[in-house]
Amino acid sequence: KTLSILAGMALAMAVPTVTMAQCDPGEIVAKMSVVTALQGHPKGETALALAERVNSKLDGKMCMEVYGNSELFTDADEMQALLDNEVQLLAPSLSKFEPYTSAFRIFDLPFLFDGAIAVLDYQNSVAGQELLGALDPSGLKGLGFWMNGMKQLSATRPLRLPKDAEGLTFRIQPSDVIEAQFGALGAETKRLAFSKVYDALASGEVQGQENTWSNIHTKKFYTVQDGVTESNHAYLGYLVVTNQEFMESLPEDVRNEFLLLFELTTHEYNRFAYEINEQRARDVWDETKNIISLTPEELGEWREAFQPVWEQFADDIGRDRIMLAQSFNA
Ligand code: LMR
Repeated sequence: KTLSILAGMALAMAVPTVTMAQCDPGEIVAKMSVVTALQGHPKGETALALAERVNSKLDGKMCMEVYGNSELFTDADEMQALLDNEVQLLAPSLSKFEPYTSAFRIFDLPFLFDGAIAVLDYQNSVAGQELLGALDPSGLKGLGFWMNGMKQLSATRPLRLPKDAEGLTFRIQPSDVIEAQFGALGAETKRLAFSKVYDALASGEVQGQENTWSNIHTKKFYTVQDGVTESNHAYLGYLVVTNQEFMESLPEDVRNEFLLLFELTTHEYNRFAYEINEQRARDVWDETKNIISLTPEELGEWREAFQPVWEQFADDIGRDRIMLAQSFNA
């Protein structure tokens, strides 16, 4: 009940709102760049809500601007821009931290988590919160996890069974685990920035992709695919990062207030993400009537097909960590 009330609020906000504040002279400016849509998207809505709070509560001291749709930076250059302090806040998906740490590989392991709520519970546990420190040695600072949801599969032909993916090329995020996942299906992969995916699908450069309902819908991937398979096979979510120098440069009262607003927004909006994805799935259904639901037996075949990925990465990720993460499944 609470969830749907909150989602109603989130979706009511899916109208263009202020994406950029007018920063006053003397205010500390925090730019946030995201590659996804802003309105009607879990990450975009959370970023906008945070900016609204910062701009109201810290008015005169700090000002936050949000740029969406890779308008400011793309996957390829955003991390360097953060290290150079050209942007102060990012929320890359956990799969994009591979050059900096392998600590987040656990989130890419297919069929590890039963659903996004299990991921959220794991991230909020002591073990999950410890992961926030994984980027400290790189000069970046993990502030908290933002949720998107479970990934679905699609291609230029319907994917009902693992063998349907054989021989196709899938766009992937830059993650070794994800590459192995498609390798296990006998498929090829191409690492592409999020901003390039629609064109690559439309031109046939790649034939398939995996993503959450909110990304598939807001970027219209489904319009250039033959159906979307409701596989919920793995998680896609974010780590909000800033650079340590910027955080340390903030006056203590501003930093504390900002971190409080961040925590508040994170907890509140991570609950929205689930409902936003449900809504985006309904939107895809309404527009295409082409969602492939899998029987438990079919799902079992996908699970089995991805087993080699577990064998390949279990030691690297840590068998104890995997078992602990699994304990958050209901
Ligand atoms: C992707 O590249 O598919 C996603 O990480 C995009 C995003 O930020 O959700």
